[in-house]
Amino acid sequence: MSILKLLHPRVLAAIKAASPAAAEIPYVASCEFTTGKSGFGDIQVKGILSAAKRLKLNPQELAAQVTENLDLEGIGRATVDGPGFINIHLTGTWVGERIGRVFFGEEKTRLGADEVKSRVVVDYSSPNLAKEMHVGHLRSTIIGDALVRALEFVGADVVRQNHVGDWGTQFGMLIAHVSDQTDVNLEELTDLEQLYVQAKVRFDEDKEFADRAREYVVRLQSGEPEIIQKWKQILDVSLRHAQRIYDTLGVLLTPEDVCGESFYNDDLPNVVTELEKAGILVVDQGAKVVYTPAFQKDFGKGKPIFMVQKDGDGFGYAATDLAAIRHRIGTLKAQRILYVVDKRQSLHFRQLFDVAKRGHFFGDQDLFHVAFGTMQGKDKKPFKTRSGGTVKLAELIQSAQQRAFELAKEKNDKRKPEDRFTDAQLKEIGDAVGVGAIKYADLSKHRDKDYVFDLESMLQFEGNTAPYLMYAYTRARSVARNAEILGGEQNGLDGIKLDFDHTAEHALGVTLLQFPDELATVIATACPHHLCGYLYKVAQAYTRFYEACPILKSEEEVKRKRLKLCAATAHMLKTGLGLLGIRVLEVM
Ligand code: ARG
Repeated sequence: MSILKLLHPRVLAAIKAASPAAAEIPYVASCEFTTGKSGFGDIQVKGILSAAKRLKLNPQELAAQVTENLDLEGIGRATVDGPGFINIHLTGTWVGERIGRVFFGEEKTRLGADEVKSRVVVDYSSPNLAKEMHVGHLRSTIIGDALVRALEFVGADVVRQNHVGDWGTQFGMLIAHVSDQTDVNLEELTDLEQLYVQAKVRFDEDKEFADRAREYVVRLQSGEPEIIQKWKQILDVSLRHAQRIYDTLGVLLTPEDVCGESFYNDDLPNVVTELEKAGILVVDQGAKVVYTPAFQKDFGKGKPIFMVQKDGDGFGYAATDLAAIRHRIGTLKAQRILYVVDKRQSLHFRQLFDVAKRGHFFGDQDLFHVAFGTMQGKDKKPFKTRSGGTVKLAELIQSAQQRAFELAKEKNDKRKPEDRFTDAQLKEIGDAVGVGAIKYADLSKHRDKDYVFDLESMLQFEGNTAPYLMYAYTRARSVARNAEILGGEQNGLDGIKLDFDHTAEHALGVTLLQFPDELATVIATACPHHLCGYLYKVAQAYTRFYEACPILKSEEEVKRKRLKLCAATAHMLKTGLGLLGIRVLEVM
């Protein structure tokens, strides 16, 4: 269980005893970890100062009364500091006992995190098919994967949905073009891309071709077998390519998770009927639209419309997303839907949720746009190749792995010959570090922000990077192996008694117990960077502990305890990085 949650009712009861009026104020009993700031205890109770101000009470007196009433029997003690802060100081015994439970005992499966029992649909990756995946799809894939892993870890029932763009004009265009060719090779996506480029040129220049392409869209949408077969062939090539990327990246997506736009084709007329029933569908210049006056600002002088069906044309992206909500709520029984999509689509999602709500497509479920910024080049412009083309994802991953391999090799050459890795081992290290670095660099920033893709800095062994954390794991792990030899991991159920006279031991112990709260924040905000920041803190606390506290040279009981802290740290780093989709190595 989260320590903050465990303390909350006690703190609230103490506030109630001291001042019933204060206990009514929202957030008055919320607690926060203070680790790192010395002299402030381990946890600070927030809100006492502002409560006192609101109720015109003396803050120090209020804090003192609360502290007097605060029952921390067996957990620690509370002090009043400064103008009226309440600081809670945990005892080493209590922290050690919790570490035993969380890392080696009954709370081990979720490392103390609270279980989340709900069904969550996560819509992520979702590339448009018939084109090669590019860097724009990377963020959605990586962020979505981390969220899925975090949710599954706490026991949520996750349904992954890869909402691929597999429908619409571009397919009519491609099928029309392919049908004109005598010998097409549809084995590789590179071939498909070429065909796509040719088809696009014809579409833009040749009116007869463009008409035929549109006709193919209609034939496709009405399910003509011969056309469907060609379409499936195109999808197959494209999806195989995407799956190869998913496998290289080590994300959880499989072909079973694909549920593309085409899936919703049959339900689109029902979307119209439902919107009509709700009385919000309007015919505007022949098009079927819903007005969304709440977003007038975004439309300037134009009409704030959400386009459901264009005049004389098929349904588009918006209608498909409405049908997807019907499916996800009605059939998949989602209680929460996360859309991991570029923030440039934010208006689309705000309108979508508004229209779907007014159309009664969902009720108290939570629909959430997990928006993210753009990955940029060093010039702070959207990431491009030197010649200005889009960067292919496969090439980007490969270049990171190659560079990580080179760096590992350079380091290797400096080792004593008997300690050197083979080239095959170096390749394994390069592959894991390369992918880990790309993912971590992305996940460690607030998803909402744009960020600069900088291969050299993400491969650094210092700072908040994947190599730093992966390496911290191997260090903790190599010490922890001694704990296994001593049987430490096995007889650890009774916990350990930490010595809080040792600042570094104290700090590491308390830090290791903050995971449940950090993970809860990641899940509530859909922001994986909180977990990255936390793991970095763990690694730093471990480094300080390792430097300050002798382990193997200590006497038996201290040695055992410290080895267990190493084992817990290693386990935390491995689990945490695993939740980010980053695989650790035993040696590197
Ligand atoms: N295929 C879209 C694109 O590449 C992203 C789809 C996101 N998901 C959704 N339900 N709209 O822009």
